[in-house]
Amino acid sequence: RPLQIYGARKNSAGFEFGHRESLAQLVKDLSAASFDIAAVPLVPGVAPAGEAQPVLAPADRSRRIGTVVNATAADVDKAFIAARKGFATWSREPVETRAASLERMADLLEADRIRFVALLSAEAGKTLDDGIAEVREAIDFCRYYAAEARRLFAAPEAMPGPTGEDNRLLWRGRGVFACISPWNFPLAIFLGQVSAALAAGNAVLAKPAPQTPLVAYEAVRLFHRAGVPADVLCLLPGAGEVGAAIAAHPKLGGLAFTGSTATAQAINRSLAAKNGPIVPLIAETGGINAMIVDATALGEQVADDVVMSAFRSAGQRCSALRILYLQEDIADGMLEMIEGAARELTLGDPARITTDVGPVIDEKQQAMLTGHIEDMRKSQKVRYAGTVPNTGVFVAPHIIELDRPEALTKEVFGPVLHVVRWKAKDLPKVVEAIGATGYGLTLGVHSRIEATVRTVAETLDAGNVYVNRNMIGAVVGTQPFGGSGLSGTGFKAGGPAYLMRFAQEQVVSVNT
Ligand code: NAD
Ligand code: ALA
Repeated sequence: RPLQIYGARKNSAGFEFGHRESLAQLVKDLSAASFDIAAVPLVPGVAPAGEAQPVLAPADRSRRIGTVVNATAADVDKAFIAARKGFATWSREPVETRAASLERMADLLEADRIRFVALLSAEAGKTLDDGIAEVREAIDFCRYYAAEARRLFAAPEAMPGPTGEDNRLLWRGRGVFACISPWNFPLAIFLGQVSAALAAGNAVLAKPAPQTPLVAYEAVRLFHRAGVPADVLCLLPGAGEVGAAIAAHPKLGGLAFTGSTATAQAINRSLAAKNGPIVPLIAETGGINAMIVDATALGEQVADDVVMSAFRSAGQRCSALRILYLQEDIADGMLEMIEGAARELTLGDPARITTDVGPVIDEKQQAMLTGHIEDMRKSQKVRYAGTVPNTGVFVAPHIIELDRPEALTKEVFGPVLHVVRWKAKDLPKVVEAIGATGYGLTLGVHSRIEATVRTVAETLDAGNVYVNRNMIGAVVGTQPFGGSGLSGTGFKAGGPAYLMRFAQEQVVSVNT
């Protein structure tokens, strides 16, 4: 299985992620990797003030992989002062300089990829497949946004006008841009936001998730080595309060957020309450993602795609499948196959090549998930419950059959699959139930009936629709990713409109 990932891969943007070392060498390098990283705020003139907190591996809570000192409110202020200075120079650099920095970052990441895969496994509990895919995605973001910056911003666009008047449209950075990210893609999403904001000419204050400060710290240090000045990219580790202080700051020029819908709504309220410039918010949030399977679907493929979409990455993907709608006529046979495939999954140490499902991120997430499963047991049917290793914070894959779709009222961010049966005549009701959640992130459809696929895709507001395949792992430049409604504002990450959200337009009209 992992071998296929080690071939050189090109995405549609033509970027190659070429792992050419042998699998045996990789496993050896990974097992030799150990970390003792001391992450601190990276802001010019700021010496770490607080107490260093240990960072422990989710797969083994006795394993310390580093420490973190969180940013204080004073650090946030100093970061804004530094970044305003950084913006003054960075925004005037030619686009080529900014694009070249991103490409150097991609090269450095590629050279250091094995260490990052190992760190993702240690700090975020990523399996090797997931870690490799994540490093590739991070590299793709850097190269894609470098190319996009050249395409969009390199030269002002001449606009039509009367003789004697020269009209030009140009794009500039917005100022100090905040990038606030989640723990589930601590490298790819963290770096995707940061690289987009830098490419568009902004200075950046990056606030990673509190669960994964070490990956972020290492990535920012690499950006500095790639030539991004320290006052153009500052790191502010910490919990939600640090993010809230950044969002509330009067000098904020824009904010890119990826995380839960509730946090996005809190940030939105905080930005709206400010009595100053109107600050744009790019929010990418969660979903109650559904897959509809009808009687024409191919059974083995469905089983494979369902297990992949619901349980890989321990279900900790915003794109993951949460609620599977199975047509009644095939439901029993299909569930048997899905349960059989789930039983084959190996849970355990994410650094082992044979592991399919690693831990969840922390005790809080584990408690939320086990609480949800226990609640469901009271009124719904738990069809399948896997078993968990003794160490670390694991939650076993579960399959829960619901008596009605409304029994699931929130995004359950982990390896818990909910199933609802539907009768052939009731497809419109299924579509209505999915739409009624108000989310619109990913949607899966398994059907060989073209009209069904078309109607479902056209009726629902899902941002990414996957037909007769799994519904995770969007590829930069190939499947631009993001949702609408409760799932986010758009534009899509890794797509051709994304960078524009980070920039502002100016028109210069000259009477010649
Ligand atoms: P979260 O909302 O708890 O935290 C995300 C980030 O926001 C963290 O850095 C956190 O410290 C910060 N934060 C928390 N409160 C804040 C506040 N009041 N002001 C400013 N910042 C604040 O989300 P999470 O648990 O880290 O991540 C999981 C969620 O992210 C899931 O809902 C998942 O669906 C979503 N997600 C969405 C996408 C996407 O592309 N749509 C991708 C990955 C994850
Ligand atoms: N972009 C990630 C995926 O598609 C979240 O799975």
